[in-house]
Amino acid sequence: MFEEIRAFSFPTRILFGCGAVRRLPQCLQEVGVRQPLLVTDPGVRATPAFDSVASALDRAAVQCRVFAGVHPNPSEDDVLEAAQLYQSAACDGVIGLGGGSALDVAKAVVAKARHSEPLSELDAQAGGYERMTGPYDPILAIPTTAGTGSEVGRSSVITSHRLGRKIIIFSPWLMPKQAILDPELTVGLLPALTAATGMDAFTHCLESWTCPVFHPLCDAIAIHGLELIVRYLERATRDGRDLEARGYMQVAAAMGAVAFQKDLGAAHSLAHPLSTEFGLNHGLANALCLPAVMRFNLDAATPHYARLAVIFGAPVHGMAPAEAAARAVTEVEAFIDRLGIAGGLRRHGVPRESLEALAGKAFEDPCHRTNIRPCTQADLLRLYEENW
Ligand SMILES: [Fe+2]
Repeated sequence: MFEEIRAFSFPTRILFGCGAVRRLPQCLQEVGVRQPLLVTDPGVRATPAFDSVASALDRAAVQCRVFAGVHPNPSEDDVLEAAQLYQSAACDGVIGLGGGSALDVAKAVVAKARHSEPLSELDAQAGGYERMTGPYDPILAIPTTAGTGSEVGRSSVITSHRLGRKIIIFSPWLMPKQAILDPELTVGLLPALTAATGMDAFTHCLESWTCPVFHPLCDAIAIHGLELIVRYLERATRDGRDLEARGYMQVAAAMGAVAFQKDLGAAHSLAHPLSTEFGLNHGLANALCLPAVMRFNLDAATPHYARLAVIFGAPVHGMAPAEAAARAVTEVEAFIDRLGIAGGLRRHGVPRESLEALAGKAFEDPCHRTNIRPCTQADLLRLYEENW
């Protein structure tokens, strides 16, 4: 029993609360950054969230360069362009401001500043983990969505158009030193994006909780993350100015990403190619794939799903565990429906004839290797067909 020695670590300092962003200059000082590069996307650049950050920096007379060219599903070119600016301006740290895309580019920039080889050689699948020798310059993360939890995660997902797939760079050195969670920064997020990003957080909590890795601390965090999302995501989607719901969703998103230190599952493997091939929002892709994956996992994840039904407040008292677990799948479907997400890949521009090639790419993706029930490429194809 317990013969393998394991490490449990939650190193990112999180500053949480309305107006927390005003403490950014202090945070920079604490991690020793004097010349930051702010990495964001054009959408966020035009929002009050950006203005709040800029005025906090101005007030403290912090010299800050801005790269606002991050694309949704960011590409290698985004990283190269930002890294060039980082180096030419002699920056000594990054501030990632935005959704997962901006945060992921910010992380990749400090890695690129350190390593001259192409990003694809840092890809976890190409043995990049060993090559990523830190420490890197400090990363500060300020999310404006509540979903990816990239602000507390140690990976960065970048699309390589050359390779036709996502590169996942992964290293403890990519963990932000500090994350600022300010609920006021998320009030402008539109309902559809609130729902989609929230479902990404939901999928992180559920897949990490069920994945067969020993990490009871992460399990507890994932379970409470699910409770918060079930309680607050619909509220945040209905009324974006509901700061209580926004705040709890930000915390839940960070919890989801802390939990997926454990790893993820098949829904993420199915979701990734839907974004690279058809540009689907990552959270939306997860929401579309999750119910079929849950049905596939039903026998393997019975105790987890039965407990999820309880989290949803379903009347499962006295039910057999298998029946309660099946009830959780219908609860998740109804939840997705109430969030205004129309199920079915066909409704989101995914042609049926693409499913076979998508399954090939999903099988190459590493997330399904820690799915609670092992899956083959044929299983993944069946799951796409079931979700189509
Ligand atoms: Fe995700």
